[in-house]
Amino acid sequence: MSISTDRFISFEGIDGCGKSTQARSLYDFLISHGQSVTFVREPGGTDISEAIRNILLDNNRQELADRTESLLMTSSRAQLTQELIIPELDAGHWVIADRYADSTLAYQGSGRNLDLEWLIKLNDFATYQIQPKITFLVDIDPMEGQRRRSAENDRIEDEGLEFQKLVRQGYLKIAERFKNRIIVLNGHQSVEKLHKQIKSEISRSFNFENNA
Ligand code: TYD
Repeated sequence: MSISTDRFISFEGIDGCGKSTQARSLYDFLISHGQSVTFVREPGGTDISEAIRNILLDNNRQELADRTESLLMTSSRAQLTQELIIPELDAGHWVIADRYADSTLAYQGSGRNLDLEWLIKLNDFATYQIQPKITFLVDIDPMEGQRRRSAENDRIEDEGLEFQKLVRQGYLKIAERFKNRIIVLNGHQSVEKLHKQIKSEISRSFNFENNA
């Protein structure tokens, strides 16, 4: 499929890393520059994907198997990609994704210890092989992530600190492998500093005036 992914940006990181705040701030920044931007979150983002999300994050579904979890994450992604992301990119709009394919590699690959190469293939299938132009990985110590999270955990957050440590290691490995696309950011910085860093990366890559 020939589609320009130049305006496709994703945010990744362990639970509580602060990526959603940064993704929203980048959205506002682009809007303030008169850009057309669509914001999506995963799992979810379309009616069908949100229905899948409800199964995935439901605390009462502890019996959900790891492979089923992977297939549901990627099903949700396939629907979102086909129904929303591809048409938006085709129209020349920006797409900001709060999580995308790398989440499956880190959570299901490292966290659940499933075969990474299989998951990469599964992601390729689900995403029609489109990839974000830039992925910001907001990296923090899992202890800090735990401290920042609300008391109410979903099914995956319920897995606890050891699981988040595995997921973080997974992210760092993926960042090393896909260096050309993934920018690792220190999530221990203030929200403002982090936003500034993201803005300057975007402004540099896309020749924007960085004055917002
Ligand atoms: P969410 O409440 O959206 O968390 P966050 O604000 O941290 O993004 O829950 C999404 C959860 O699903 C989160 O724990 C990460 C997990 N997840 C996976 O395990 N695999 C995936 O492919 C995706 C997209 C998310």
